[in-house]
Amino acid sequence: MRVCVVGSGGREHAFATVLSQSSEVVVTPGSPGIKGSTAQVATEIEADLYVVGPEVPLVQGLADQLRADGRAVFGPGSDGARLEGSKAWMKSLVEAAGVPTARYASFGEHEADAAVAFLSTLAPPYVVKTDGLAAGKGVLVTDTYTDAVEDVRAKLSGTSFGDSGRCVVIEEGLSGPELSLFAFCDGEKAALIPTSAQDHKRLRDQDLGPNTGGMGCYSPMPTVSTTDLDDMMNTAVHPTVEELRKREIDYRGVLFAGFMMTEDGPKLLEFNVRFGDPEAQVILPRFEGDLAETLLQVAIGDLQSPPTLSTDAMVTVVLASQGYPTAPQTGDVIYGLEEARAIEGVEIFCAGVALNPQGELVTGGGRVLNVCGRAAKLETARDLAYNAVSVISWSGMQHRTDIGASIQADLDKEEVA
Ligand code: AMP
Ligand code: GLY
Repeated sequence: MRVCVVGSGGREHAFATVLSQSSEVVVTPGSPGIKGSTAQVATEIEADLYVVGPEVPLVQGLADQLRADGRAVFGPGSDGARLEGSKAWMKSLVEAAGVPTARYASFGEHEADAAVAFLSTLAPPYVVKTDGLAAGKGVLVTDTYTDAVEDVRAKLSGTSFGDSGRCVVIEEGLSGPELSLFAFCDGEKAALIPTSAQDHKRLRDQDLGPNTGGMGCYSPMPTVSTTDLDDMMNTAVHPTVEELRKREIDYRGVLFAGFMMTEDGPKLLEFNVRFGDPEAQVILPRFEGDLAETLLQVAIGDLQSPPTLSTDAMVTVVLASQGYPTAPQTGDVIYGLEEARAIEGVEIFCAGVALNPQGELVTGGGRVLNVCGRAAKLETARDLAYNAVSVISWSGMQHRTDIGASIQADLDKEEVA
């Protein structure tokens, strides 16, 4: 099979690596760190299957364009992609489907006073979200009422997020640990990818510093059982797919559902219409069987059997450039990559790299490399990843030292008890 992967980050590098075990892979636009990268655009590439990695082209309708040409695409059309592209639409859809989620109201550009009046009926923490895509940065959670009011006004006036913010969703604040699950959906039915993953969103150790696209991840979460995941499929994912079908939306791709485990049970926080980055990097390599064949089945609306994964654990540590996330510096020469790759049990995906005029690999974005360790035990996977991190360097390289550490500490405590 010939597969075209759309995107250029670590998630797409992971897709390309796993898919190339059974298929010929081209990646557009890819990067100098990803084999098979091409400057040709997807619509000009002949392939048996198109896998769209990021949300922006999905929301913009790339899958519709390719399908109109009779091609098989893994990824929803722009109608289904609204689950991620419009939080107000997503909330109204899941409410209609009876999915447990935070109470909310949405407000448009000229409704700032009504939005503030609604805020005043809520207790802290206050949650204010941009309706549209905001690269993971559009959500404010605060205990301070005046900050929430200011945020509502900045978003609705277009000053903070442009058109993405001209509608806001205000939600009741929930609390509890967070959990994400992933399910394939072939337009008719959804099938759980039987694992869980936890991202670390803050820049610095112990969840300090600004929010980022994700600084590292581990999978599976040892504290989450398949029964828990099945429950969330039943209360949130299956009803959502049913509601999509009622609205004649033929959703083919992955649904990435984020939950908060509250005292009243799991509540849906968000849907994403693509794999997480870096969650994909610790899930896709553990896929058993032919991933290309499974994604093709999803794309043609005929998923035959539920996916299965290796029981291995994986940990990925994101290496970020100097100045990330506010002002990432590019062009710094990356040292030690090949040496790190030679360590057994280590896999490294390129998230944001470029070549300098001397032909050296340099930093090319905010998140630069994803250093992954894989082993039977989480602790060993973590050690492998950090061993590999220790031989890589560039000027101002940033990373967290505690990816998967707190869960490891909890496991150690349990073992002692
Ligand atoms: P979202 O993009 O909607 O998942 O929101 C991003 C992050 O904001 C989530 O991962 C949560 O940490 C937090 N968050 C979102 N909604 C709520 C809520 N209703 N209550 C408390 N925290 C929330
Ligand atoms: N890692 C979070 C995301 O991809 O949205």
